[in-house]
Amino acid sequence: MANTILLQNSKYNASAEIMLYGATVVSWKCPSLADSQPRERLFVSATAIRDGSKPVRGGIPVVFPCFGPPTHPEHSKLPQHGFARSSVWSWNGAITDEGDRVSVTLTLDPTPAITSVYKRPFHLAFVVSLGRFDLSTELHVQNTSSSTAYPPDYLEFQALFHNYIAGPSSEILVTPLKGLSYFDKTEPTDEGRATAKTETRAGVDVRKFTDSVYESASQNYEVTWVDGGISIQTSNLKDVVVWNPQAEAGSKMGDMEKGGWDNFVCCEPGHVRGFEKVAPGLTWVGKQVLSVIQAARRER
Ligand code: BG6
Repeated sequence: MANTILLQNSKYNASAEIMLYGATVVSWKCPSLADSQPRERLFVSATAIRDGSKPVRGGIPVVFPCFGPPTHPEHSKLPQHGFARSSVWSWNGAITDEGDRVSVTLTLDPTPAITSVYKRPFHLAFVVSLGRFDLSTELHVQNTSSSTAYPPDYLEFQALFHNYIAGPSSEILVTPLKGLSYFDKTEPTDEGRATAKTETRAGVDVRKFTDSVYESASQNYEVTWVDGGISIQTSNLKDVVVWNPQAEAGSKMGDMEKGGWDNFVCCEPGHVRGFEKVAPGLTWVGKQVLSVIQAARRER
């Protein structure tokens, strides 16, 4: 079976590519009303590793069950951002073509490699759906424990879509974040913890190294630049991370192409402050829809 799934929405000349490794969406192309040529909407570093030995530097890696270095005792043996982005997912070969939308579902269940570092029973499904000007991703997290104990045997996790949105980072603004509390991870305290701040900017730029975790956000965002943009609509993902390493941090990453930080922003909806809890037998669903903004040119 192919290592990469190609989704094609032939009605609208849109396409997406999803690797079974990490269920990582590595390409999303679609036209806009103003431009009938399908354009790449995601950034993937030219030096990204694509052989399954390391998470892909770009696209949409799936972060589960921990965001950043693990903080939950059940996650203590996991790498940064968890195992979902570095596990090989399953695909049953089916693609659903409804004309207006074309969709695919990948699944992940415990493997010996996962079980050796993470003991909890779970079932994940990742649904990617391609429309005319949009791409949606949905993560379904099922607690497959059959325990009937009280208190319930909750599955506790964090989850996030690590979107690398292609765009000129010198022009990019992310809105609306003003008034939100956020943690600036570029300024860790002595204990290595980020400091809490309140966002005062109407539009957040990433012209300098940015690594900010906003909590309890609006769940709907716009990432805009002078002649384009992407909107992000989410559900069940209360937090959002804005990240761009710029040369300061990007030049130290082996899989980041030189100057790659000029060409994207990561605007990452997730549940990453605290933990989502799912009782045995139940399923949590987190969703985002990325859409091309058919906007007039933004003034500089
Ligand atoms: C972001 C984090 O989500 O991902 C950053 O907030 C981190 O702290 C970045 O540096 C990239 O992580 P990684 O593991 O893909 O290098």
